[in-house]
Amino acid sequence: MPTETPAGASVHTPTDPSPAPSGQGPAEAADAPVLSVRGLEVDYPVRGRSRSGPRHVRAVAGVDLDVYQGETLGLVGESGCGKTTLGSSIMRARPEATGSIRYRAADGRVMDALDLPAAEAPAYQREVRMVFQDPHSSLNPRMTLRDIVGEPLRMLLGLRGEELEARVRQVMERVGLHPDHLRRYPHAFSGGQRQRVSIARALVPGPRLVVADEAVSALDTSVRSQILNLLQDLQDDLGLTYLFISHDLSVVEHVCDRVAVMYLGRIVEVAPAEDLFSAPLHPYTEALISAVPLPDPRLRGTRARVRLSGEVPDPSQPPPGCPFHPRCRYATDLCATEEPATRETAPGRTVACHHAEELDLLGITDPGATSTNPPARATREPPEKQEKNT
Ligand SMILES: Nc1ncnc2c1ncn2[C@@H]1O[C@H](COP(=O)(O)OP(=O)(O)OP(=O)(O)O)[C@@H](O)[C@H]1O
Ligand code: SF4
Ligand SMILES: [Mg+2]
Repeated sequence: MPTETPAGASVHTPTDPSPAPSGQGPAEAADAPVLSVRGLEVDYPVRGRSRSGPRHVRAVAGVDLDVYQGETLGLVGESGCGKTTLGSSIMRARPEATGSIRYRAADGRVMDALDLPAAEAPAYQREVRMVFQDPHSSLNPRMTLRDIVGEPLRMLLGLRGEELEARVRQVMERVGLHPDHLRRYPHAFSGGQRQRVSIARALVPGPRLVVADEAVSALDTSVRSQILNLLQDLQDDLGLTYLFISHDLSVVEHVCDRVAVMYLGRIVEVAPAEDLFSAPLHPYTEALISAVPLPDPRLRGTRARVRLSGEVPDPSQPPPGCPFHPRCRYATDLCATEEPATRETAPGRTVACHHAEELDLLGITDPGATSTNPPARATREPPEKQEKNT
């Protein structure tokens, strides 16, 4: 629980936040999570009324999640499952959010993003930053790169003039942009370069945790690996922690240490990436994995595809019992009436399924499913400084 400072600031002891009750997180991770989400719920009001009152979409329905220092935690799930809502709640952009999002700052203070005194907001915004999917819409077309990248320095650190410009040049160089392009506008850059600008803007105040929401989804394959390489290099050099939100499991498999699977606003499975892909425990994870294309075209079609029946249910009227039961090929009578609790099945592995231990689900290393020629990991070549349009 928070203790009140004389100034009314909500500050927790350095031993908070406590590890997830479900034991998420690998043994080799830092002792305590850098970010702990507990009981997060986000309801969006929608038009119309239900029998119980005004209708709402429960976009996030009681999420507990820990993120550990220095790791890349993947957050995956179908469109509309609540990934962005969870990410934007961490960024304090969802006033509807309830629960707690406790962040351990560099100086050991623990701040609750959902209960943050105004005086502490700049410190939080310096350390917790976001990279968005679409660099076209997330960059103001009427601002120069100097102003786009420099804005967080001005707003959060009070820098001005030469000092600000020197920091902007430094970070631009670090992300592979030519510092002489300071006075250019976003339209003068390619998609990959614009995403480098977004990364520079996130990076410039010196964050520790970066929420990357579909940060490479809009990019061509070759540019995508350059940006992934850049993110990896930055993580290695600066000790960054990433929450990597993506619907693309083939990317997640290769860049994430752990993966959380989200369905209808709930986290249904968390596991180290290798374990999740080789031996999923939740039927929804199995279905997502089975849709990952094999890199070798000759092997495509040789692996059993678990096709999900039906559509994602309307989140304003979630089904009773297990929210996945109308689409689950393993569902039993119990599944239709009782929502499964999240359980720890092994250190660092949690799942919300009544029958997880009884099922023998397909992972990507099952016989007949593995390519002898797996997709190459993103190589760590230096980011290309000269993409098209420079
Ligand atoms: N501002 C809003 N008002 C009402 N409903 C919303 C709003 N934003 C999102 N939703 C609904 O909340 C649910 C979760 O949306 P969210 O954007 O978080 O999902 P997502 O997993 O990020 O999807 P995608 O993969 O398409 O980006 C969806 O049902 C969506 O329609
Ligand atoms: S609880 Fe039942 S319906 Fe839900 S995922 Fe497990 S087997 Fe399927
Ligand atoms: Mg989204």
